Amino acid sequence: MSILVTGGAGFIGSNFVIEWLAASSEPVVNLDNLTYAGNLENLASLEGDARHVFVKGDIGDYELVLRLLSEHKIRAVVNFAAESHVDRSIHGPEDFIQTNIVGTFRLLEAVRAYWNGLPEAEKMAFRFLHVSTDEVYGSLSPSDPAFTENHRYEPNSPYSASKAASDHLVRAYHHTYGLPVLTTNCSNNYGPYHFPEKLIPLVIHNALAGKPLPIYGDGQQIRDWLYVTDHCSAIRRVLDAGRVGEVYNVGGWNEKSNLEVVHTLCDILDELAPPATRNLQLATFRSLITFVKDRPGHDRRYAIDATKLERELGWKPSETFETGIRKTVRWYLDHPDWVANITSGAYREWVGKQYA
Ligand code: NAD
Ligand code: TYD
Repeated sequence: MSILVTGGAGFIGSNFVIEWLAASSEPVVNLDNLTYAGNLENLASLEGDARHVFVKGDIGDYELVLRLLSEHKIRAVVNFAAESHVDRSIHGPEDFIQTNIVGTFRLLEAVRAYWNGLPEAEKMAFRFLHVSTDEVYGSLSPSDPAFTENHRYEPNSPYSASKAASDHLVRAYHHTYGLPVLTTNCSNNYGPYHFPEKLIPLVIHNALAGKPLPIYGDGQQIRDWLYVTDHCSAIRRVLDAGRVGEVYNVGGWNEKSNLEVVHTLCDILDELAPPATRNLQLATFRSLITFVKDRPGHDRRYAIDATKLERELGWKPSETFETGIRKTVRWYLDHPDWVANITSGAYREWVGKQYA
C-alpha cells in the first residue's frame, strides 16, 4: 500500500514527502502538474529512491486519479495541490477557482468512486486529508482570541474563498457519502523550498541582491508563523490518529507583525552575510525596507489556537520562531543555485507586474 500526495512538488508538499520517506518505508505517489510553483528540484534528494513515484498530472483529471488510486492500492490521500498566493489570486482568480474548487471536487469524486469499491476493512482504514489554511476564517482585530475550529468562515480574498469552498466540499463528502476525511487549517508556513513570491523568501532574496524590501501598507499586519516541518509533523499526526470528520487547527503560537519579521530577517542577514561581503554599500539590510501600496482587502491579523491538536493528539511544534527563522536564512544562503534557477523567466515577469 501507498499514500497519494498531491502538490508534492510545491513548498509544503515537497517538505512533507521528504520527511515522510525519512520516517517511513511506505511509498509515496506524488501527483503534481508542475505549475510555476511546482519544482522537481525540491525533490532532488529522492532521486533513485524507488519509494517515490512522481506523476505529472492534474488533480482535476478524474481518470488519471482513479487509475493511480487503484494501481498503487492507495490507503490515504494528502491533498496539498492548490494555487496558494493571495496576490496572484487578486490579479487573476480563475486558476484558483479551477484548481482549488473544481480540482478538489474532481479529486473527491475519483476518491469516492475508488473508496466505494474497497473491501470493508480497507474502507474503514482509508483517509482523505485535506490541507487548508487559517485564511478561511477571515481577519481578527488585535484583541480577538485566536481562531478555534469553531470560528465561522469569513474568507476575504479569492484565494481564501476558494480554499473555504474546498473545505466545505470535503466536509460535505463526509456528511453525505461517509468518506473518511480529515481537514487541517494551518497558519503561515516558512522554511526551505519556499517560493520567493512569499514574504520571507522574497525579503531574503531581495536583501541579498541589494533590492528594496517591499512592505505592504504600514507593515503592522500580523501573521502566525510555523516552521514547515512542524506543519508536516502535524499532518502526519492527524493522518495517524485524527478523528474522522474532524478539523484540526495547526499553528505555532508565533504572532508577529510583518515589520517585525522583516527586521528579524535583516538582523540575521547582517550577522550571517553582512552587506559588505555582498559588495553592498549599506550599514544594514534594514535600510532597504520600502513601504509600498497595500494589498487590496488585506487581512489585518491571523492567529491560530492549536489547543485541540495538542490536547487530543499530543502534537506540539519543535521549532520556535527564533530557531526556525535562523535555519531558514541559513538554508537560503546555502542554496543560491536553487534560488537562481527559480527566479528567472516567469518569476521576473510576476515581480515586474506586482511591484511596478
Ligand atoms: P505551493 O504553491 O508552493 O505548491 C502548490 C503545488 O501544487 C505546486 O507544486 C503546484 O505545481 C501544485 N498544483 C497546483 N495546481 C495543481 C493541480 N491542478 N493539480 C496538481 N498539482 C497542482 O503551495 P504551498 O505553500 O506548498 O501550499 C500547499 C497547500 O497548503 C495549499 O493547499 C495551501 O492552501 C496550504 N497552506 C499553505 C500555507 C502556507 O503558508 N504556504 C499555510 C496553510 C495552508
Ligand atoms: P504572504 O507571504 O503572501 O502570505 P499571506 O498573504 O498568505 O499571509 O504574505 C505574508 C504577509 O506579508 C501578508 O500580510 C502580506 C505581506 N507582504 C508584504 O508586506 N510584502 C510583500 O512583498 C509580500 C509578498 C507580502
